[in-house]
Amino acid sequence: MIDRANAADLIRVVLLEQEGFPPVERWSGESWGQELGHADHLVLVHRPDADSPAAGSRPSAVWGTDSDIDAVAAFSATDDFGDLLRVIVTPAARRRGIATALVAQGIDWIAAQGATRVFLEVSQRNQAAIKLYQKLGFEQFSERRDYYGPGLDAWVMLRSIAPANGDPADSEATHE
Ligand SMILES: CC(C)(COP(=O)(O)OP(=O)(O)OC[C@H]1O[C@@H](n2cnc3c(N)ncnc32)[C@H](O)[C@@H]1OP(=O)(O)O)[C@@H](O)C(=O)NCCC(=O)NCCS
Repeated sequence: MIDRANAADLIRVVLLEQEGFPPVERWSGESWGQELGHADHLVLVHRPDADSPAAGSRPSAVWGTDSDIDAVAAFSATDDFGDLLRVIVTPAARRRGIATALVAQGIDWIAAQGATRVFLEVSQRNQAAIKLYQKLGFEQFSERRDYYGPGLDAWVMLRSIAPANGDPADSEATHE
């Protein structure tokens, strides 16, 4: 199920970050700590079902935290536009639609804030993510040369959305 993240999820989120990105692209634990505490941002996690084969086998369960998550995504919204800041799915849970479900719920939240456009930045080398975003209706908007370091360019991608009322992320878990 998809749920809002809480402070107990931080260790698992940092492990997901390490699984998901090369060091040059990683967010620090401090950055994620701030993200989780940011009142104006939305951080969603995917908690696998208790009967899922992977549930309970991940390091957080071994270390005794309350968190057992296999994916995370972060979003912000300011005035007319929102940002998809991050989405990470643990390798064993990929290609099951989890990122799609997280991003869809985040975009619902951005629309509920009154925004009509969503931006994101992605490494030009990250074809899996680019394909995911294209499937979700994002198109290339511009390019940032050397964004991740010399020769490591980023694409800025954009999707228009229809504004909505209410805050779907305030409801209990919905998608998945
Ligand atoms: C990119 C990522 C988030 C995708 O998560 P996911 O849960 O596997 O994505 P989904 O199952 O929702 O995939 C939806 C669609 O995206 C595309 N896609 C996803 N992964 C892909 C891959 N490895 N190769 C090609 N297309 C891919 C496909 O079109 C897929 O639909 P399909 O499975 O029906 O073909 C995941 O691979 C990941 O965590 N990568 C490391 C972190 C990262 O790069 N995050 C994005 C930048 S912030």
